[in-house]
Amino acid sequence: MSSTSSGSAVHGDVTASPFTSAVHGKVPEGVDPITPNVARMYDYLLGGKNHWPADREAAEQLLKVAPWGREAARSNRVFLGRAVEAVTADGVRLFIDIGSGLPTQDNVHEVAQRVQPGASVVYVDIDPVVHVHARPILTGNDSTRVVQADVRDIDAIPDHPDVRKLIDFEQPIAVVMGALLHLLTDADDPADILDTLQEALPPGSALIFSYACTDDLEEGTIKEATSVYSGAAATMTARSSAGFRRLVGDEWTWREPGLVPVRGGRLDLDDKALLPDMAANFFGGVALPRRYQQREAA
Ligand SMILES: C[S@@+](CC[C@H](N)C(=O)[O-])C[C@H]1O[C@@H](n2cnc3c(N)ncnc32)[C@H](O)[C@@H]1O
Repeated sequence: MSSTSSGSAVHGDVTASPFTSAVHGKVPEGVDPITPNVARMYDYLLGGKNHWPADREAAEQLLKVAPWGREAARSNRVFLGRAVEAVTADGVRLFIDIGSGLPTQDNVHEVAQRVQPGASVVYVDIDPVVHVHARPILTGNDSTRVVQADVRDIDAIPDHPDVRKLIDFEQPIAVVMGALLHLLTDADDPADILDTLQEALPPGSALIFSYACTDDLEEGTIKEATSVYSGAAATMTARSSAGFRRLVGDEWTWREPGLVPVRGGRLDLDDKALLPDMAANFFGGVALPRRYQQREAA
């Protein structure tokens, strides 16, 4: 599996957009507006501005199958923000956000740099559209960069020159993987990706992640949701929360409150993020490499 090596400095104003020029008839280079795109569908669910008719149509199909999709996406963002705040308060200053998606409200660099102005963030996404979008809108922030790479080639990410520019692998690092693991198939071997990551992380590091799982969902719903993603040239692999726990394995332990539904009352989530009608099918947690916890306890 390959990763491309485009990297660009990231800057602040998230309101400017290559999609603005697209409205006037110009499709930015590297953007396919015809095939629904996971990052843009997600942006639509979040109420963002960066999507095309094909993305909106696919996201609306998804909402028919999973009417709580918007709330799940918003709660996921709230969870990620709170988790980033929590690990920044723990002393982490370096972040790698893999499968970062399009810039949105409360991006990882905004949250982390609010708590700790010197925090450095590298965004990593496989999708060129994320880069097309990030390039013009993220300016003047030398502590943040964006890299195009594939998490399935996890070994290549620490060695990427733009990652190396900002991330010191001798210091605690938080890797963020929000709403990413359910986009990896069993053949992609996500368990092996997590193991490799765990071995690469220095003491004091954390993995913040969230994923959609199939608990409480009917077979038909799972099938329909999966087929919306295949129309978007992406995969969605249906796993139960127990299946995810097996995939994460024993090499990690959990920062309180553990691996939990992202709705409601978790990591001091604001109660407004509660999803009363939603099945508990979006989980999140902050995982810590167990080997360091054992060493501290000894
Ligand atoms: C649903 S969005 C999640 C965005 C953000 N992390 C969040 O949770 O709010 C998933 C993102 O993962 C990216 N992605 C999918 N497969 C990937 C891969 N193999 N490597 C890197 N990024 C990937 C997609 O392009 C998309 O931007």
